[in-house]
Amino acid sequence: MSQLRFHHLLLLRNSRRPPSFPFSSSTKTTPLLSLFGSTPRSGTMAAYSTVAEAPRLLLRQLFEKESSTYTYLLADVGHPDKPAMLVDPVDKTVDRDLTLVKELGLKLIYALNTHVHADHVTGTGLIKGKMPGVKSVISKSSNAKADLLVEHGDNIYFGNLFLEVRATPGHTMGCVTYVTGDGSDQPHPRMAFTGDALLIRGCGRTDFQGGSSHQLYQSVHSQIFSLPKDTLLYPAHDYKGFTVTTVGEEMLYNPRLTKDEETFQSIMENLNLSYPKMMAVAVPANLACGLQDLNAKV
Ligand SMILES: [Fe+2]
Repeated sequence: MSQLRFHHLLLLRNSRRPPSFPFSSSTKTTPLLSLFGSTPRSGTMAAYSTVAEAPRLLLRQLFEKESSTYTYLLADVGHPDKPAMLVDPVDKTVDRDLTLVKELGLKLIYALNTHVHADHVTGTGLIKGKMPGVKSVISKSSNAKADLLVEHGDNIYFGNLFLEVRATPGHTMGCVTYVTGDGSDQPHPRMAFTGDALLIRGCGRTDFQGGSSHQLYQSVHSQIFSLPKDTLLYPAHDYKGFTVTTVGEEMLYNPRLTKDEETFQSIMENLNLSYPKMMAVAVPANLACGLQDLNAKV
């Protein structure tokens, strides 16, 4: 199998840097990791330009109604292999999602999680059981298991498209936001998959799993509100029927994150929420990125 054919599996570090993350002093500067070697992107792009169309993003927003979770299917359908990834798959809807992948003729290569969820079990383990070639992805700072542990500034390629990893802790210590690439060959406007760091007119709670209202405020302002105002924001949940928002909209209308930090912290400290029903099952399972012995849990 040639390296060229599988260049869509490359995961590179730092070809384009997001803003520095306020809670990390990491300064990585070179490509570090690839499943099939660390071929620089510029070389593979040049080699492919004669056989592939321009990158073309397919995006599907999928919903799991018990936990009100959104799963996102992304693919580069301009690429001959139509490489695809699922962001935040849920165990209960894996069959639906994989049927859609098949019907659309996509090649699923990654199952990503934005964080260790407390309200549902990730579908990652089930997906890997059904499609062993798929690689699981989560942040290194989540302390969860996965095939690929990503860090702030990494780029995750699928075909000639990529997602940039931005550390956005605060809801949990390991939350990341995945942002479509910056560049003329990448989707415009940009899109960000925010997990629970930013919800539409809301945000994730900060009272467990290493959460911190101070960190969440800094994360959203430095890593999400710093994106262009027309950036489309896709959260991991919605409980009111919204599907998408923009940076500009949330900077104007988010009832929590438009406040000063002190007011924000006071709001977050007084939510008085009960713990999610699924938490005792979901967190241990998701720390294993859904790869736990499923039989042992039944
Ligand atoms: Fe969450």
